[in-house]
Amino acid sequence: MAILELGVMGEPLPAGGFSSADRMRGKVCLVTGGGSGIGRAAALKMAGEGAAAVLIAGRREAEIEATAAACQALGAQALAVRTDVAEEDQVERLIATAVGRYGGLDVAFNNAGFQERRAPLEGQSNAVYDEVFDTNVRSVFLCLRHQLPVMLANSWTSAMRRVGMCV
Ligand SMILES: NC(=O)c1ccc[n+]([C@@H]2O[C@H](COP(=O)([O-])OP(=O)(O)OC[C@H]3O[C@@H](n4cnc5c(N)ncnc54)[C@H](OP(=O)(O)O)[C@@H]3O)[C@@H](O)[C@H]2O)c1
Repeated sequence: MAILELGVMGEPLPAGGFSSADRMRGKVCLVTGGGSGIGRAAALKMAGEGAAAVLIAGRREAEIEATAAACQALGAQALAVRTDVAEEDQVERLIATAVGRYGGLDVAFNNAGFQERRAPLEGQSNAVYDEVFDTNVRSVFLCLRHQLPVMLANSWTSAMRRVGMCV
């Protein structure tokens, strides 16, 4: 892709090109919503590409534990951390766990999300609105606010290019 050929935020590319697999090697990674779907697949990809550790966050314990076990089978350390990403105290604890257990955080995929039942607007309730915005918007804000200070301890550019979200 053009953006990779140009580099990120003006940083020169490594000699010999840029291999995306190299970006995970030895990194401490976090995936929210890692118990299923895209988040689970991303966590396994991180583990398979040499991540040192993968933290899996989500509300359903069995699902995040299963993803953590699958990451361990691929050779990474992995930890399931039961977290509701719409709750700030739980997000704070999640990031503190990454720091306390693995010494920091290098890669964050803020993937947890909620897809409302398709219905005409006049058929949607305020509760649906709240769940959509709490899960898809507020949670990303909360995650970024607690992740960035930890990631910025490395450098601004490396932090900004390793934060992802799915909307
Ligand atoms: N699949 C698509 O075609 C598509 C297209 C565009 C965007 N997306 C977005 O991509 C992301 C993943 O999609 P997916 O298809 O993989 O969906 P999915 O399998 O339903 O995954 C969503 C994950 O988010 C977690 N989650 C939801 N609310 C949470 C909360 N409050 N706290 C913590 N975790 C929470 C769920 O786990 P728990 O319920 O256990 O917490 C679940 O593991 C979502 O943000 C979705 O909106 C998907």
